[in-house]
Amino acid sequence: MHLQIGGRGLRFYPAYLDREAQLEVLAAIRGVLASAPLFSPRMPKSGRPMSVGMSNCGPLGWFSDEGGYRYRREHPDTGRPWPFIPDPLLQVWRQVADYAHAPEACLINYYGPHAKMGLHQDRDEADFAAPVVSVSLGDSCLFRVGGDNRRDPTRSFRLNSGDVLVLGGDARLAFHGVDRIYPQTSTLLAKGGRINLTMRRVTRAPA
Ligand code: SIN
Ligand code: FE2
Repeated sequence: MHLQIGGRGLRFYPAYLDREAQLEVLAAIRGVLASAPLFSPRMPKSGRPMSVGMSNCGPLGWFSDEGGYRYRREHPDTGRPWPFIPDPLLQVWRQVADYAHAPEACLINYYGPHAKMGLHQDRDEADFAAPVVSVSLGDSCLFRVGGDNRRDPTRSFRLNSGDVLVLGGDARLAFHGVDRIYPQTSTLLAKGGRINLTMRRVTRAPA
């Protein structure tokens, strides 16, 4: 069961992963972070650090610094290729993406109690036919989503641990962001905070 929000492309699956499945994904992500540690992305131009910690898995990883937003094949600090996307996440993609090809990138965002993410579009990918599939773990957040223009009206709702959100179709380029974290709303992460995983297709898929 999923809820449709706004147009057809935004699909919300509350509590998609039960506790056991969340722990399985978390253990896999801890494994990824052991070889691809969180780094601090910086804003294009200003170079100001973002409040979230990031890493990636998959052949390509999203990255941002003074030079702008882009995907890279290697971790910016270790220089090593990103680890593989863990199976339990690929399984979520296969179940909800409604897209024939595998994701190429899974961005890992870690939010401490004061982190947030400004309203933005995910548009650094060559192919918008594929959706962005988002998995939330740990503390809840207040998520905001609007339309294709920054000024379009937005709606806000909570994303809780285990929720899955799909931005596809007419919502693929919807502006979205995280206004705040609600600390201590989940016991999944021993030290608190929120992990969000977004799987994306980056290059144009073979026809
Ligand atoms: C993102 O837009 O990259 C993250 C969204 C989220 O944290 O839910
Ligand atoms: Fe995003």
